[in-house]
Amino acid sequence: MKKTITDSTVDADILAYTVGDDPVLDLALAKWDCMGTAAHVTMLSEMKGLKRPVVTKAEAAKVRKALATVAKLADEGKFRIREDDQDVHMAVERMLTEALGDLGKKIHTGRSRNDQVAVDVRLHMKDETLRAEGEVAELAECLVVFGAKAGPVPLVGRTHLQPAMPSTVEMWATGHAEMILDQVENLEAAYRLADLNPLGSAAGYGVPLPLDRARTTELLGFSRTIHNCFGASMARGECEAALLSALAQLMAVLSRLAEDLILFSMPEFGYFRLPRAYCTGSSIMPQKFNPDVLELVRSKAAQVLGLQTASLSLLHAMPGGYNRDLQDCKWLYMKGLETTRTTLRILAKVVAGVSVDAEKCRAAFTPGVFATDVALRKVAAGVPWRDAYHDVRDQFAALYDGRPAEVANLDPDEQVALKTHEGTCMGLDRRLYAKRIADVRKSAVSRLRALDRRCAALLK
Ligand code: ARG
Repeated sequence: MKKTITDSTVDADILAYTVGDDPVLDLALAKWDCMGTAAHVTMLSEMKGLKRPVVTKAEAAKVRKALATVAKLADEGKFRIREDDQDVHMAVERMLTEALGDLGKKIHTGRSRNDQVAVDVRLHMKDETLRAEGEVAELAECLVVFGAKAGPVPLVGRTHLQPAMPSTVEMWATGHAEMILDQVENLEAAYRLADLNPLGSAAGYGVPLPLDRARTTELLGFSRTIHNCFGASMARGECEAALLSALAQLMAVLSRLAEDLILFSMPEFGYFRLPRAYCTGSSIMPQKFNPDVLELVRSKAAQVLGLQTASLSLLHAMPGGYNRDLQDCKWLYMKGLETTRTTLRILAKVVAGVSVDAEKCRAAFTPGVFATDVALRKVAAGVPWRDAYHDVRDQFAALYDGRPAEVANLDPDEQVALKTHEGTCMGLDRRLYAKRIADVRKSAVSRLRALDRRCAALLK
């Protein structure tokens, strides 16, 4: 009888339930499983103080070569996880055993699937987080370009959604860009947490072999080892939750951008226009060009927050050590990443396509938008601020009550031209945005390249 790796006698329904979606989800981990395995086997071959090596250096080289072939299959989308493999870890071991015989059966020495999957997930998360950061930079750049193109076109600034003060389209766009760029801080915090090596903790309690954990940390390019083996097993799920928290917050920021775009492209506002090709119609109302794409950004933001909540709910009452619940963290963070990254890309496309109706933007300026500016003119003439405020306030109160009043109307272009201090309409530092965007890109790309180089060095 042909033995499966775990020689499973588990009932088929129970097995299907416990395996869940791993045969599909784990495909994303195949490359990283090969990398983690290559590091582990290299370390095994270098282990000192044993009478007989677990694997020799020549054998480790053979394993790495075979792993490179497996990783190539994964790269080409030809890697398959069979039902009886259960997950990527067993699939890789099966393939190595098919290719190398007994040598393939040695690669799991001193390792558990618990530390193996934890390492795979962390490598995958590092890679994906850096790609997401690149996409954040891309979207921020689209907003900055959009703002620069609109230049000083005046836009009614709002608080409580009510007309408030003179602003510009560029201030609106770069304000969103800056908020989005700031989210890199949260992604980086999640990245730093993912950048720790749990390998060598085995099932969570170490093994009676002289594992060199620092060596796999070095080979895989982690910033450090998670020292305590039990702690390393407990950390599974925690970095997924941290990443989901960063993603949920980023999505909430993106959702606010989407909401502004929806509002400002409503016919009642008419400041912006979405390209017709980006709007969807109605099956009954022929006049409809709806911003469904932006509404779905709002909905996806809610979903990613739900994924974060799910991850913390899953963790909060779990006892110490590995529990199979942790397997479900995988779907949560993968779904969160996929949703967020797709949203970043789609928003970049939408923003690049939006056009500005400068005349509608100007036409929306009612006298109230200039009220503060008018009061400040009185201040310039020597009136104390609070008195100036009440003068203007009284006039607008009369208007509000339907009594006649003389409120001054000013020119929107002239008023925005007067706002010159740091960060206001005419005080926006375009070079600052360009530099921040370039820095985010550069740092993400250089780390992605470093990860690629580590991978290539291990899988040859
Ligand atoms: N697919 C499993 C997971 O993601 C792999 C680890 C299985 N470990 C175990 N002790 N059953 O958690």
